[in-house]
Amino acid sequence: MTQDELKKAVAEAALEEVKKIISKDSIIGVGTGSTANFFIDALAEIKLDFDGAVASSEATRERLQAHGINVYDLNGVGTLPVYVDGADEVNPHLHMVKGGGGALTREKIIGAASTKFICIADESKQVDILGTFPLPVEVIPMARSYVARELVKLGANPVYREDFVTDNGNVILDLYNFPIDDPLAMEQRINNITGVVTNGLFALRPADLLLLGCSDGVKSITAV
Ligand code: A5P
Repeated sequence: MTQDELKKAVAEAALEEVKKIISKDSIIGVGTGSTANFFIDALAEIKLDFDGAVASSEATRERLQAHGINVYDLNGVGTLPVYVDGADEVNPHLHMVKGGGGALTREKIIGAASTKFICIADESKQVDILGTFPLPVEVIPMARSYVARELVKLGANPVYREDFVTDNGNVILDLYNFPIDDPLAMEQRINNITGVVTNGLFALRPADLLLLGCSDGVKSITAV
């Protein structure tokens, strides 16, 4: 199977999970990225069975609306029953690195505001130790150099993501070759640097369910 076929398979598996949770008045959280895009396309098939969605990025908002799915502001809705999103890396505790596409802050907010977080990923994303994929850190623009110096003190090698501005008007520093032994502690440590909006570690709020696309089928995995 190609990687796209694996992504499509997990998107369809996520749709089955979502069908178990939603009702006519449900508003669900929808993530960002190529795997999430397959989910959005699948979700369109059942758009009459739920009320609408909260989008984790402008790109996702546009794709949802193109399918005729209502998109709501998170401030106008309560706790979301379910959030479906991809990941750049996921470990056996279902801690994730996210934000390769730069949508980490809105993704983290929606994850925090949702009862159930379903991560959809192909098997290339499964790791034992997070940090091979560059860890993104969203930073207020005027704090970029200060935050980079503080990240160097943590042993990281921050690289400014050139020509990229987040949906929130901020910049991204990517931390390359930064193996993360204790994701819970590192998530908090980086977030405590003044000027950091958030970082792409999702350990404090991990996924509740991982649907992993493998060549022999989709595996449903919960945290160890
Ligand atoms: C977007 O900012 C990310 O967090 C994505 O969820 C992540 O990069 C996964 O993207 P793909 O599904 O395209 O690999």
